[in-house]
Amino acid sequence: MKFAARVENLPPYLFVGISRAIAAKKEQGIEVISFGIGDPDMPTPAPVLEALVEASRKPANHKYPETEGLPEFRARVARFYKDRFGVTLDPSTEVINLIGAKEGIAHAALCFIDPGDISISPDPAYPVYEIGTMFAGGTTHFVTLREENGYLVDFADIPTDVAKKAKTLWIKYPNNPTGAIAPLSFFDDAVRYCKEFDIALLHDAAYTEITYDGYVAPSVLQAEGAMDIAMEFHSLSKTANMTGWRVGMAAGNPEMVNALMRVKSNIDSGLSQANQEMGIAALDMSQEWFDNNNEVYRKRRDKVVSVLNEIGVPAIAPKGALYIWTPIPAGYTSAEFAQKLLDEVNVVVTPGNGYGPGGEGYIRLSLTIPDDQIDEGLRRLAQLRVDA
Ligand SMILES: Cc1ncc(COP(=O)(O)O)c(C=O)c1O
Repeated sequence: MKFAARVENLPPYLFVGISRAIAAKKEQGIEVISFGIGDPDMPTPAPVLEALVEASRKPANHKYPETEGLPEFRARVARFYKDRFGVTLDPSTEVINLIGAKEGIAHAALCFIDPGDISISPDPAYPVYEIGTMFAGGTTHFVTLREENGYLVDFADIPTDVAKKAKTLWIKYPNNPTGAIAPLSFFDDAVRYCKEFDIALLHDAAYTEITYDGYVAPSVLQAEGAMDIAMEFHSLSKTANMTGWRVGMAAGNPEMVNALMRVKSNIDSGLSQANQEMGIAALDMSQEWFDNNNEVYRKRRDKVVSVLNEIGVPAIAPKGALYIWTPIPAGYTSAEFAQKLLDEVNVVVTPGNGYGPGGEGYIRLSLTIPDDQIDEGLRRLAQLRVDA
């Protein structure tokens, strides 16, 4: 059998290796504590589950959904944008439902990238930006995110000949894996830059609602002129503990939204309507619920940072997202240090180079495991001897 090069050349998905390492330890009777994948341990809120039960009984929801999503879902997303960001959207043309943000992110490449085209992506980054581009036959030009620059994309780092050819630019703040945040002025710069070079600006906003210490993250669509050139990807996965229900959405320039709808309508038939009703219920949860959910992560963040600092790992508390991204002690590669944690104290972390070469020298710890496991993981980490 002859497989396509896009499959033959596919690197293993980052977390497959981590799951294997956990399984191998389990076979030896060792229970590892995993700070690996970012998958909320807390349950989907009860009103959201109740919405599913009710929605599942409606015969209209037993049928194919419309690719773009229920009008009620899109209207609720538009209201979220108005209330949260002060951005006015036409729900019929500027919002689309997604089967999780990942699906939309991967398919977005098919809207813009032809074989040989260039996409610009940060490094380190969520791997799907590059893979989507590769599936569409394009190549990715990586811009290294530098700690001293607050992990913001420095547009001056992109060669002009690359910018002239590029079709898309990916950004995401609050950032995975670095936890970095971006001020609205950065989004203004990104919009100006993309307009100058006629590049579609794609912002992955999966973590805008997971922030700490009073920080409120902006949407790229708040930037001057963003609706001319930008599309933003959102997700209820992390925001409302709903990774299993696959509720995401994209919003922005109507031609970009329409292109995504046309691509998707030829590939999938949209998210089940019952799950979209869950999405409406999630967006209806009170601010207090979201604040309390984030407060659990904030407490975990502070505990993890404090223990890492005690053992000589210079972690800094991020203002957003679900991860501690930290440089590792000198003398180790990311993979070596992650292996050391697994071998010596049975703790799993994600090696930074899994997010691209710019992540070398870092590890990522996810805050999405129950408090008792966090405590046990930290107890183990505190026993670690770090001799550089
Ligand atoms: C930066 C980023 N974007 C998108 C996603 C995917 O979100 P969803 O579950 O909605 O597909 C993730 C999930 O880890 C993520 O970290």
